[in-house]
Amino acid sequence: MTDKTATLGVDGNNHVFPILEGSVGPEVVDIRKFYAETGMFTYDPGFTSTGSCRSAITYIDGEKGILLHRGYPIDQLAEQSSFMEVAYLLLHGELPKKDELDKFVYTISRHTMVHEQLATFYRGFRRDAHPMAIMCGVVGALSAFYHDSTDITDPEQRMIASHRLIAKMPTIAAMAYKYSIGQPFLYPDNSLSYTGNFLRMTFGVPAEPYRVNPIVENAMRRIFILHADHEQNASTSTVRLAGSSGANPFACIASGIACLWGPAHGGANEAALNMLREIGRPERIPEYIARAKDKDDPFRLMGFGHRVYKNFDPRAKVMKETAEEVLKELGVNDPVFDVARELEQIALNDEYFIEKKLYPNVDFYSGIILSAIGFPTDMFTALFALARTVGWVAQWNEMISDPEQKIGRPRQLYVGSPQREYVPVGQRG
Ligand code: SDX
Repeated sequence: MTDKTATLGVDGNNHVFPILEGSVGPEVVDIRKFYAETGMFTYDPGFTSTGSCRSAITYIDGEKGILLHRGYPIDQLAEQSSFMEVAYLLLHGELPKKDELDKFVYTISRHTMVHEQLATFYRGFRRDAHPMAIMCGVVGALSAFYHDSTDITDPEQRMIASHRLIAKMPTIAAMAYKYSIGQPFLYPDNSLSYTGNFLRMTFGVPAEPYRVNPIVENAMRRIFILHADHEQNASTSTVRLAGSSGANPFACIASGIACLWGPAHGGANEAALNMLREIGRPERIPEYIARAKDKDDPFRLMGFGHRVYKNFDPRAKVMKETAEEVLKELGVNDPVFDVARELEQIALNDEYFIEKKLYPNVDFYSGIILSAIGFPTDMFTALFALARTVGWVAQWNEMISDPEQKIGRPRQLYVGSPQREYVPVGQRG
């Protein structure tokens, strides 16, 4: 706690607001009484300077390129942990002991199947439906099947719903892929790891046994960990805002999926690979760099830039190393990777990108790995949603348990018409 305060002078009146300090990172000015005291609202479109909540889950230092999950650095987790262990850590705040992890993995594995009626839900989509359109619909529909875990005031039901969401996302995502290629759905195989089970449901077929490639399994483990959570990003804030109204957890996660789909957010991994493929050859890079710098051209380098990271995205470093390893181990020689590395080098030495502090983010290299493994580009954001579900669920639980939590309801600077009288249509001139 601190007894520091911030004073705002307005029209000769001083308004004093408490300053709150966290465990690490920037302090905050508590402006909850700002409107009551000043009759004014603060104004921060995009929330570039606004803290929306207290959280103990993830800490980011954008200047130093630091990302901690419950205090543990992302590169250590990506190197040494498992996705289930990271899910437990995000949900419960501590690394699990062996028996705690075994129990968690067992619990999750017992929720991997979806209701048989949910499988018919897919039949309503066209085969060429974007997997994210299917994910939005199917995850939202889960609330129609699991009434016994929608009472958000019951901690036990909240945890069952959390386990169901974490367990079923791989099944739902794999089913979306199978449906798009006209292959039958595979049921989960609980003898496999979380990641191995997802790979088998995605790439396996009923006609023959599926052997999980350990190189691919390890790459997916890292990719899922790198995408697990990221503080109060747009989709997590969407989940929290939806949850603040008391909406059930399945509806909240569906809202997060919808927000993540945007190309400025989770949709960037698909857009980045499509951009790299469109560039095609290193000699075409200058043309695209020029377009990215042209104020009159809406084109942006997808996979570059970040609201918080202003030096480098620590996840991009690990992702790039993983891409090097996976392409080498799989013997894949994808020219797009050469374009990506060349583009990164050129951009990092260009004064525009240096001045605007634009660096590769988590989405720049991930698509190269996913493509090498065999995923189509339209599955990339679905994989991001699969992994981010553990973060969304952890943040949703934290919000529901927060005694300071209330329904999120921002105000505005109104710039519309002042009050005026209705004019009947015959008198409108
Ligand atoms: C994710 O928030 C999170 O944590 C998100 C995420 C997570 O894990 O949840 O990390 C995942 O969403 C990563 C970001 C993926 N998106 C992209 O790669 C899309 C391309 N990037 C941009 O659209 C942009 O960089 C954002 C959206 C990521 C960040 O936008 P900001 O913080 O609002 O910054 P801005 O748009 O105000 O840009 C600042 C300046 C602008 O120029 P000026 O108006 O000041 O002249 O930088 C320019 C922008 O035009 N700029 C770019 C650029 N990104 C920003 N110029 C060219 N190419 C780019 N990629």
